[in-house]
Amino acid sequence: MSDHEWLHPSRLGGVRPTVNRRRVDRPGGNVETGRVPGAGWVALRIDVDAELADAVANFLLEEGAPGVITGERAADRPEPPAGRAHVEAHVPAEDEARVLAALRRYLASLAALAPERAPATLETAVVPPVDWIEIARRHHRPQAIGARLLVAPPWEVPAAPGREVLVIEPGMAFGTGQHATTRGCLEAIEEILAAGGVATALDVGTGSGILALALARLGVPRVVALDVDAAVLPLARVNLLRNRAAGVLLVAGTVRALRARFDLVVANLRADALVAEADALAGAVAPGGRLVVSGIFDGQLGAVEAAYPGWRIAAVRAEDAWRTATLVREG
Ligand SMILES: C[S@@+](CC[C@H](N)C(=O)[O-])C[C@H]1O[C@@H](n2cnc3c(N)ncnc32)[C@H](O)[C@@H]1O
Repeated sequence: MSDHEWLHPSRLGGVRPTVNRRRVDRPGGNVETGRVPGAGWVALRIDVDAELADAVANFLLEEGAPGVITGERAADRPEPPAGRAHVEAHVPAEDEARVLAALRRYLASLAALAPERAPATLETAVVPPVDWIEIARRHHRPQAIGARLLVAPPWEVPAAPGREVLVIEPGMAFGTGQHATTRGCLEAIEEILAAGGVATALDVGTGSGILALALARLGVPRVVALDVDAAVLPLARVNLLRNRAAGVLLVAGTVRALRARFDLVVANLRADALVAEADALAGAVAPGGRLVVSGIFDGQLGAVEAAYPGWRIAAVRAEDAWRTATLVREG
């Protein structure tokens, strides 16, 4: 799982890979089976009268294909003649014979019902195996952040003299260090801690626990981390234990559940959450403390700033379209 793509509009958000292409997923398809397309899968490719394409796609979904692509054109195949459409489904190799037989019967019944339409054509292709572990390994590489931190996956932990090495297991929680917002927060944390005076810190929306971990490893004596999604906390716990930061207190919930105030509060959320939770986040910062907010697109910074009256932006970090801001009370 990668980063703000599932929480924030991704940089590809709204851009479709192929004009007129549509992918339909069977709810729970891959999750139920635990199968990964590419590991012993066969592609069924059907060229069919365009008006029958949805019927064929639905049939394949009912036969158990976890996802079906339909469209009048596909980037990797020649454009079908006018009035025809491509339908493509991937099925596990062990299901190929059964699904093919059923599909042939179904296409024959469609041909019998509408003999005036040109018959469908069908071909199969073996889907080349995909080494997902290798892909993950290539994606998650150690990276130095700021002057004092290095984030690494468990399978590649380099020696990094002078840096705190944070070993993060990529998993179903945000925060591998690969995203601009996480990096922005880590850099802001490092800079603020270098100035001293931070005895307590709160990580709001901890995800993988990476920011809480950095806070602890950079020397903050008391760190609390919370997340509204209790499902991420076991992974955060694993990451904290693995990195000798077991003292971080993990809490399920939002900042409103807390009474304490902290010298430093870091919240890498979405801009709308930063606005909705503004009073609670501001209230969690001790007098003289700092609030680091991220998960903000360039154009959203003004709206976030406006939600914090009595605060001013002391620093902004920019990477791609993302902004990380450090807020301090005015006066
Ligand atoms: C973008 S991730 C940040 C993860 C990690 N802190 C980082 O910087 O990489 C945001 C996390 O905040 C959590 N979250 C979203 N809204 C929240 C809220 N209002 N209060 C607490 N947690 C929230 C989400 O469940 C998610 O785990």
